[in-house]
Amino acid sequence: MVKLTPPMGWNSWNTFGEKISEKLILETADVMAENGLLECGYDYLVIDDCWSLKERDKTGRLVPDPEKFPGGMKAVADYVHSKGLKFGMYSCAGNLTCAGYPGSYEHEFIDAETFAGWGVDFLKYDYCYHSPIVAGKYLYRRMGLALENCGRDILFSACSWGADETHEWIKESAAGMWRSTGDIFDTWESVKKLIKQQEKLHPYNGVGCFNDMDMLIVGMYGKGNVGLKGCTDVQYKTHYSVWALLGSPLMIGCDIRNMNEETRKILMNRELIRINQDPLCRQPVKLTGIWSGEDMVMYARMLSDGDIAIGLFNLSEGKSAGRFNLDELGLPMSTGKTLEMTEVWTGEKFTVKNSTVARNLEAYDCEVFRARVVGQ
Ligand code: DGJ
Repeated sequence: MVKLTPPMGWNSWNTFGEKISEKLILETADVMAENGLLECGYDYLVIDDCWSLKERDKTGRLVPDPEKFPGGMKAVADYVHSKGLKFGMYSCAGNLTCAGYPGSYEHEFIDAETFAGWGVDFLKYDYCYHSPIVAGKYLYRRMGLALENCGRDILFSACSWGADETHEWIKESAAGMWRSTGDIFDTWESVKKLIKQQEKLHPYNGVGCFNDMDMLIVGMYGKGNVGLKGCTDVQYKTHYSVWALLGSPLMIGCDIRNMNEETRKILMNRELIRINQDPLCRQPVKLTGIWSGEDMVMYARMLSDGDIAIGLFNLSEGKSAGRFNLDELGLPMSTGKTLEMTEVWTGEKFTVKNSTVARNLEAYDCEVFRARVVGQ
């Protein structure tokens, strides 16, 4: 199944790990549908690893753990659908999933049929315990083919963490998104690492098969499935802004039943979501500029209506002051054009008439602008 803009939703892994249950999923579905997340575009609710029994049944089918999901998966899917959401599940290209539950290796077609029978709309497909003999590109091609022939539209979310040069072959597998980075953790160091890992892969992102920088840690505050120190609100804001601007899928990873106001504001920034969901999904251009601080990253992206999204990200622990040149955006002074800038977090508006834009950023902070080209 092909989705034309980056998928958005919620996934159980970052916060809950193996502590998943029917109750959690139904409550999460209620919250997504009722608190504005669905309206913002977050429509996939995905159960990650640890949902099944450790053994398949006599017919070779996967069996949901009856203690965690007493009503079975069809009932969960029906409930999720009744809320206007789409339902996602998880399996693995290996013999086992990363957490040691049965994987889909050599069961690809029967598992795809099982997922289709339950009403699954999205399959995240991990890469642990994969065969040392069969190359990853064949394993993902197999499941892609199985899903394309299972009788239901299922978005294929490939999760081989960018290993084995995934970018070179993933589009052959009918994947609608693919993990271009290693796992995210709820720390600032992890966010920074993934931003750097992503850099050389920008050209592979695009309509129908999106580079997935991994799920969001916004709002986790160290309460994830592994004990970590968490991030501050400003760090979460910058993390979200980078993921949105670069066109990554936006899969929430925090407990949305207990979100504070700051987390809601970050996850529901409609202007950033509009940039993320821009129908042409063009790739970012890295800007250079001159900055006093270290670790400044700047990207610009042309949008489908001619506007330009511009992100200034201070990834360092110190303030940064500096500027970038309009030349880099394709607007040298000779064009006589000016830019009307609107910052998506503060709503600040100003017009740029010079060839440079000078700004100041606090530690870890960012600014994202939607800029309109104006003038004769
Ligand atoms: C590794 C993946 O990268 C994670 O996102 C998560 O799905 C875990 N496996 C589950 O075991």
